[in-house]
Amino acid sequence: MTADDGAQPLRSAQAAGRSGTLWSGRLEAAPAEELMAFTASLPYDRRLAGDDIAASHAHVRGLVRVGLLSEEDGDAVAGALEAAAAELASGDFVFAPGDEDIHTAVERRVTELAGAAGARLHTARSRNDQVACDLRLFVKRELLATGRGVLDLQQVLAGRAEEAGCARLPAYTHQQRAQPVLLAHHLLAHCWALARDLDRLIDAYRRADVSPLGAGAGAGTSLPIDPDATAADLGFAARFENSLDAVSDRDFVAESLFTLALLGVHLSRLGEEIVWWASAEVGFLRLDDAWATGSSMMPQKKNPDVAELARGRSGRLIGNLVGLLATLKGLPLAYNRDLQEDKPPLFDSLAQMQGALAALSGLLDTAAFDTARMAAAADDPLLAATDLAEVLVGRGVPFRRAHERIAGAVRAALAGEGDFADLAAAEVGPEALDILRPGGTLARRTSPGGGGPAAVAVQRERFAARLAADAARLNVLDK
Ligand code: ARG
Repeated sequence: MTADDGAQPLRSAQAAGRSGTLWSGRLEAAPAEELMAFTASLPYDRRLAGDDIAASHAHVRGLVRVGLLSEEDGDAVAGALEAAAAELASGDFVFAPGDEDIHTAVERRVTELAGAAGARLHTARSRNDQVACDLRLFVKRELLATGRGVLDLQQVLAGRAEEAGCARLPAYTHQQRAQPVLLAHHLLAHCWALARDLDRLIDAYRRADVSPLGAGAGAGTSLPIDPDATAADLGFAARFENSLDAVSDRDFVAESLFTLALLGVHLSRLGEEIVWWASAEVGFLRLDDAWATGSSMMPQKKNPDVAELARGRSGRLIGNLVGLLATLKGLPLAYNRDLQEDKPPLFDSLAQMQGALAALSGLLDTAAFDTARMAAAADDPLLAATDLAEVLVGRGVPFRRAHERIAGAVRAALAGEGDFADLAAAEVGPEALDILRPGGTLARRTSPGGGGPAAVAVQRERFAARLAADAARLNVLDK
C-alpha cells in the first residue's frame, strides 16, 4: 500500500464537504466514505419508509397540538411528508449520499420541500425513539400478516382432515409403527401446534404494541410533548413507561424472532414428514406436479424441494434469533448503534416465514394422500397389540400382566410359531378377531383427545371453534 492509498479515504471524505449529515454542525470533517458504507442502514431500512412517514405525521400533529409547531408549519411539514411518501411509492425519491438511514433521508427531503418549517420536524424527537417507533409499527403489521399465513395453513390442514374422513394410518413412535389413528387426527396434530404459534404471535404483538415516541434520545425532553396522545394517534395500546427502556428495548424483536423460529421448527417437522411420506419407501403422499421439482440429470425424479426448504430454512430462523440475542446481551443502557443490527434478521425471518407458509399451504392443498397404502400400514395386526392387552385389562387383568401375555403372542408370531391373530385369540378369545379386522382398533380408541373417530369428531369441532376464534382475534387487532 502506498502513502497515497492510505490517504485516500480522508481525501474523499473532505471532498464530500461538510453538508449532508444530521450532525454536520458538530463534526468538522465530513464522514469518511468507508464509515458511511459500514454504518449506513439505508439499504435495508428503507423498508420502514411507510412507517417512518406515518410516525412523523403523528409526531407533527403532536407538535401542533402542544404548540411547538404552528398550524401553518404543521401543514407545510405534513404536505412535504405526503410528497416524500408519493416519491417513495413511485420510485422517484432520490436518495442523497448523506442519507445514512431512512429517517435521515425522509427528514432531508421534507426539509428540502418545506423549507424552514421542515427544519422543525425533528423537534423533541431523536432517531432513537423514531426508529423504535417505526420498527414497532412494522412488527405489529408483519406479525398479523404472518398470523394470517398461519391461519391459511391451518385451514388447508383442517380441510384435508375433513376430507380424510375415516382414512387411517399408523401413529409412530421412534419412527416405528405404533397404533392406528385417523389421518385427520395426524393432520390436526399439526394444526394444534400452529394454534400455539398463532397464540405466540398475538402475544408478541401485544408487547410490541407500546409507543416509544417521546422518549427522545433516551432521557425525554424539556419540551412540553404528550407521548400518550401520539401513542393513541398511532394506534398503540399504550406509551412507554421509561424513556431509557423505550429506546433500548428490542425484546419485541427478539420475541418475534423466537416465535418465528419455533413456528419454523414446526414447519420443519411438517416438511420432514412430507419428505418421508413422499418417498417411494413410505408412499403415503404424492405431490402435485406444480409443487414438485425435477432433476437436471435423472429423468425419473420428482422431488419435494418445498418441504426440504421448509425444513432447511428453519436453521436460518434459529440463527437469526440467536444472532440478535448475542447482539443484545452486552448492551448497556440506553441506545447503542449495535441495535441497528436488529433489522436484517427480523426482515429475513419474516420474509422466509411468510414464503414458507404460503408454499407449504399450496403443497398440502394439492397433494394426494395414498389412503390405501396408509390403511395397509395401519392394518398390520401387530399394531393392535395394545388394544388387545386393554381388552384383558377390561376383564380385570392387571395391565403389566396383560402386556406380558400379548407380548408373548407377538414373540411367538415373530418366531414363526403361528399366526398372530390365532395366538392373540388364544389369549383374548373371539373378541380378538373383531379388533384385528381392518380398522378394528379405531372404534375402541374413544378416550378424549385420542385418535379414534368419536374423539376426533369432537376434536374437529373444537378445532373449528378455535380457528374461528383465532381469526376473530386477528381481525380485532387488525382494525
Ligand atoms: N439507523 C439507526 C438504527 O437503526 C437509527 C438510529 C440512529 N441513532 C443514532 N443515535 N445514531 O438504529
